[in-house]
Amino acid sequence: MKIKSVILYIFLLFAFVFKINGETIIPITTNDISLIYKVDEKTGRLYQSYLGQKLSYDSDIALLPLGKEAYLTHGMEDYFEPAIRVLHNDGNPSLLLKYVSHENKQPQSGIHETIILLKDEVYPVEVKLHFITYPKENIIKEYAEISHREKKPIVLYNYASSLLHLNAEKYFLTDFSGEWAKEVCMNETPLTYGKRIVDSKLGSRANMICSPFFMLSVNEKAQENTGEILLGTLGWTGNFRFIFEVDNLNGLRIISGINPYASEYTLKPNEVFRTPEFIFTYSAEGKGKASRDMQRWARKYQLKDGEKSRMTLLNNWEATHFAFDENKLVDIMDEAVKLGVDMFLLDDGWFANKYPRKNDRQGLGDWDETVTKLPNGIGKLVKEATNKGLKFGLWIEPEMVNPKSELYEKHKDWVIHLPNRDEYYYRNQMVLDLSNLEVQDYVFGVVDNLMTKYPGIAYFKWDCNSPITNIYSPYLKNQQSHLYIEYVRGLYAVLDRVKAKYPNLPMMLCAGGGGRTDYEALKYFTEFWPSDNTDPIARIFIQWGYSHFFPAKSMAAHVTSWNKQASIKFRTDVASMCKLGFDIRVHDMNEADLAYCKEAVINFNRLSPVILDGEQYRLVSPYEGNKDHAAVMYTNENADKAVLFAYDINPVFKYNYFPTPVRLQGLKKDARYKLEEINLYKGTESKFKYHNKVLTGEFLMQVGVPAFSADPTIPTSSRVIEITEIK
Ligand code: DGJ
Repeated sequence: MKIKSVILYIFLLFAFVFKINGETIIPITTNDISLIYKVDEKTGRLYQSYLGQKLSYDSDIALLPLGKEAYLTHGMEDYFEPAIRVLHNDGNPSLLLKYVSHENKQPQSGIHETIILLKDEVYPVEVKLHFITYPKENIIKEYAEISHREKKPIVLYNYASSLLHLNAEKYFLTDFSGEWAKEVCMNETPLTYGKRIVDSKLGSRANMICSPFFMLSVNEKAQENTGEILLGTLGWTGNFRFIFEVDNLNGLRIISGINPYASEYTLKPNEVFRTPEFIFTYSAEGKGKASRDMQRWARKYQLKDGEKSRMTLLNNWEATHFAFDENKLVDIMDEAVKLGVDMFLLDDGWFANKYPRKNDRQGLGDWDETVTKLPNGIGKLVKEATNKGLKFGLWIEPEMVNPKSELYEKHKDWVIHLPNRDEYYYRNQMVLDLSNLEVQDYVFGVVDNLMTKYPGIAYFKWDCNSPITNIYSPYLKNQQSHLYIEYVRGLYAVLDRVKAKYPNLPMMLCAGGGGRTDYEALKYFTEFWPSDNTDPIARIFIQWGYSHFFPAKSMAAHVTSWNKQASIKFRTDVASMCKLGFDIRVHDMNEADLAYCKEAVINFNRLSPVILDGEQYRLVSPYEGNKDHAAVMYTNENADKAVLFAYDINPVFKYNYFPTPVRLQGLKKDARYKLEEINLYKGTESKFKYHNKVLTGEFLMQVGVPAFSADPTIPTSSRVIEITEIK
């Protein structure tokens, strides 16, 4: 075993480091991607020679032009945005990095790492660029470690995780921006000379407006199955910034990292500043392949419990808001049993006594059950749920405080707020100062105390409804520009403790909807809440947007009363494309709807290995054409089982309307598949042309099926088709 590892190590060393004609070449590769660095022999500086589809021949690589400087510094001869800008303690603001060495490692089977060491020859500052590659999934992670041995601290003004160069005729950027209840709207724009910045300064609920991910398509607009495209995302649960700069030679520079806004960082001698990871993939087969690579990688390596199953649930937020008591909750648990879901999730409104949490204006921070609402506490609810065969989940928002709370009265010094200024509130609340170790203990204690008292709690929904307002830390005193960074580090320190003590505790990441959706946070969370908007039509767009980066199993989707014009079937079918849940009063449903939902839960459980763990194919985009249809399918690993979801979403009646057949993907050409429409109301017959018919993969992928209803009398309708190989 040991000998094997040594041989592998030697192989890796030669496979990833080579010199041709004395030139040092450092290829960072996956099965389909090459990112190639070269060292300029004359100057000793590091250049990025290539990024794109895999280059297979060393003889070609040797002849690649040098390219552009890799991790550009401020103060030298480049005219554009630098990756790093420092101020030495003698007042010199420049940095000149030269290649020193590089090494290759295999941190884990199937994962490779290359570390390139760069140093300034005049000032003792060094930068280590780390590249971690997942060859099979075609994912590259990049981050930097910055340190120095000057006598006094230096100041970091810019500290990017990554600087990538592309060289093409045209570039198209898709960002995913929006607002509360309007998350991840996809906007594609061409990039021309100059800079485009996508960033956030919101601190805690960091991506309420802009998301920390983007798509960059080369030469033509992003296509699903063709064309070259880079998908990138930053693993940082705080302020981020992407700069896209087209330079004078029409080269594109993509700088990704923490947003350095109001965040100059004083770095002590020998302290290592580690940037967050920039995670990217490059596909030459359109965004569909790029997303599938990213989703597969996330399930396998990044998302908490990415390869484990998920629980269906009934939540009470939309159904009750703050208006509940023990009896009502027990009634709702009975409704969960009727639906056949795995868990009951109690949302906001269960805590605080001096200022009971009867609305969002008070109580946040006081994590004892409100005795008037829950006289027998959470323990009784856990017991009731358990007796009914349900798991019990609980909502918390431990990073926040209402000024009207006992916590605020006792510990104003724990609250981020500006001295000598009026307080400004977002959703009537403020953010606790996670840079303070005592506050970290308190936040960890919210989970720990609940788990100690009620070990039966099986799940947490961890909410975060406010950006950081009144930005000033009573704890950091004269180091205020560290606050945005220390806040996030403090959050990770707390989440590390939670994960270490409760490794099997699933948690949902929520931030007033989708205000926190990054891959560093998702190391600690099994799923996230994409949006408070659960109108199924809006959700088709929202889920579509997120799917470019995140697997279905990481997205919680609930059937609610938003958009009652859409049938329960339509609402349930949309939610069944992700991690299915409900947030609705079952006693308001008629029998047919309840029977429908029960059946849909059974179908979802049966098909969840395909939907939650399979490959996703986006077939018909809701963004394209008349924006009146969408279709998505999932296949399992062997492509012997698949599920197709198809939606008519334009509520405008159309006559003489014949939508084109939907061509499926990801099936085996020569296999024979039986098609069956499922999720039908009891007693209704399928009108799907190929219901219970057998067709080959070839037919399904080349001819396609009339998946949409084309019924002008129904404004919104949905179809779910189960596809099974006949062996
Ligand atoms: C915002 C979340 O997005 C909702 O789902 C709900 O949990 C509320 N907060 C509760 O205050």
